[in-house]
Amino acid sequence: MPELTAALGHRYWAETKLERGGREARRPLIEPAAAGKSYPQARKVPLLHDLDLLDKPFGHLLRERRSHRRYGEELLTGRELAMLLWAAQGVTARAGSALLRTAPSAGALHPLETYVAVEKVDQLERGLYHLDVGRFELSWLSGAPLGRELAHAALEQSFLAQAAAIFLWSALFRRNMAKYGHRGLRYILLDAGHLCQNLLLAAQAMGLAACPVAAFYDDEVNDLLGLDGDEEAVLYLAAVGRRKE
Ligand SMILES: Cc1cc2nc3c(=O)[nH]c(=O)nc-3n(C[C@H](O)[C@H](O)[C@H](O)COP(=O)(O)O)c2cc1C
Repeated sequence: MPELTAALGHRYWAETKLERGGREARRPLIEPAAAGKSYPQARKVPLLHDLDLLDKPFGHLLRERRSHRRYGEELLTGRELAMLLWAAQGVTARAGSALLRTAPSAGALHPLETYVAVEKVDQLERGLYHLDVGRFELSWLSGAPLGRELAHAALEQSFLAQAAAIFLWSALFRRNMAKYGHRGLRYILLDAGHLCQNLLLAAQAMGLAACPVAAFYDDEVNDLLGLDGDEEAVLYLAAVGRRKE
């Protein structure tokens, strides 16, 4: 067994510590990237959410949240989908040019982009969509149903193919790392946890089944989304559907 301190992850951790007196870790290394990604040519789908859908005692949501991997055939409503997206990335305030959201983000840089593979949502065509956070609308990217392919790319985790919607979060690394350097990668991963947990609790509030997923073949999932995997790469997924006991 190699020593823990020789492991790649440990070296990264050690070399990105902040220490009094200054370290290289935070020095900006690269040019920044634009704050919001958009697909101006894509067909748009407006999103209508309804905060009343989440009106459940918060303590109960925390107590009852579980990862569920069995999904029924019934469709999600458009409002439920919108509510999930809003819980993850809804804009709740502005600070200068920054769009502050339901989830916190280091330096308010919001390096994560949200995509959703729609399989079973009422009045919404199957396919791949991107969330335009500022306008709170979806851009339709492709009509190819991705459930099975995502399940295949996620180490054959077949429950993904049964989900009504699969959310995918990518990082645009420059957005964060131009400011925080190598240490920024820590923050990007922390941001992802916040945002996914928001979505999971929203799913719980609406009585839906949800499961986070991080085991997947990176290149295969990036390819399905048309991402290069360097500038922007998928780091986290969440499957959501109707509960099936
Ligand atoms: C970062 C992360 C990655 C995960 N990846 C997977 C995954 O690839 N497949 C899966 O079925 N569950 C995945 N899970 C869910 C965990 O297995 C689950 O949270 C754990 O078993 C505890 O169960 P609970 O969520 O019901 O409390 C992941 C959870 C986290 C936080």
